[in-house]
Amino acid sequence: MTGNKPGSPIVTLTPAPTLDRTYFVSNLVEGGVNRADGVGEELAGKGINVSRGLHLVGIEAPGVVPIGNADQNVLERTGSAEILLPLWIDGTLRVSTTIVEHNGPTTKINESPRPLSEEDWAAVIDLTEATVRENGASWLVVAGALPVYKGSGNYVDLQPLFDRMKALNVRVALDTSGEPLQYWARQGAAAVMKPNAEELASAVGRTLNTTGDVIDAARELCAHGVQCVLASLGADGMIAVTKTHAWAARTAPVKVINTVGAGDATLAGFLSAVARNPIAPGDEDFGVGFNVPVGVRTAVQWGAVAVTQPTSGLTDVDHLPESFLNENPDRTVALEEPAKA
Ligand SMILES: Nc1ncnc2c1ncn2[C@@H]1O[C@H](COP(=O)(O)OP(=O)(O)OP(=O)(O)O)[C@@H](O)[C@H]1O
Ligand SMILES: [Mg+2]
Repeated sequence: MTGNKPGSPIVTLTPAPTLDRTYFVSNLVEGGVNRADGVGEELAGKGINVSRGLHLVGIEAPGVVPIGNADQNVLERTGSAEILLPLWIDGTLRVSTTIVEHNGPTTKINESPRPLSEEDWAAVIDLTEATVRENGASWLVVAGALPVYKGSGNYVDLQPLFDRMKALNVRVALDTSGEPLQYWARQGAAAVMKPNAEELASAVGRTLNTTGDVIDAARELCAHGVQCVLASLGADGMIAVTKTHAWAARTAPVKVINTVGAGDATLAGFLSAVARNPIAPGDEDFGVGFNVPVGVRTAVQWGAVAVTQPTSGLTDVDHLPESFLNENPDRTVALEEPAKA
């Protein structure tokens, strides 16, 4: 298998990767024929971003991706062969098109995830489990949109994955949105979930106005069984919540260039710190068995660095800003804007 060096504590799965194609145009004429000055191509997806981020600090974090076999060269072409483990499926990869106008707005057209056959999804689960086993990993990240089944149109079932990871004593960190987020938040099978404020609001079905509202919403997910909710709040940093604790972490303000992918950077930062700071027997385990305060401090550092870089993936994490941790967050602080369900 390509790129799979045994021994990574973290494996990722991106159930619906996409080929991001960016066209640079000097002057877009709507309804006209346009010529691109340049074209960029990148294999993208939330789990892939987490893998790339971890790679920067020497954690291999192999990323499992189902990919259409019509474009066999795509991994090499996009420089992804080292990090990703493809599960080849019949067909083509979905494409997300971005049109960047010089000194103008950016237009995006995203294809929905391609439906998968039940057999393909079963093969994705098998490859994920095999990769986790080979690496002796203790974390699996499942991130990004979920595809639906070709036949029924229902979202693919994550339960077999949760069951197999539980049997291996592997924790799952889940970052998804929409209907699957609402459903899986209530199942409580993920050890960690990383919603942003709007996603958390949609998961509990109510508007969140204050830090207290965020903590209460996150605790609702903990009551369903999620061990730790990482609620990311953009410039306001992140609130980490377990059944018994809540921490607010933030950095000093940074110069924002591109916020896309900041959430993925925070998850990579969190897991890098958690993997490298295991809890020794007898030490405080925060009721969950992993070092949430160190994790969340690192998460906001990586998030802050991500927004200062132009690409959606992290380029480097060499200069982390200082981060501040509050173990007793003020519940009355208003969110920058209310997060609507
Ligand atoms: N303006 C900002 N200044 C400093 N840090 C920021 C800023 N915006 C985001 N961050 C950092 O990035 C983290 C994640 O941002 P955000 O809450 O927007 O994630 P997200 O909506 O899940 O992003 P995406 O899904 O696009 O990756 C925040 O918790 C914070 O640490
Ligand atoms: Mg996000």
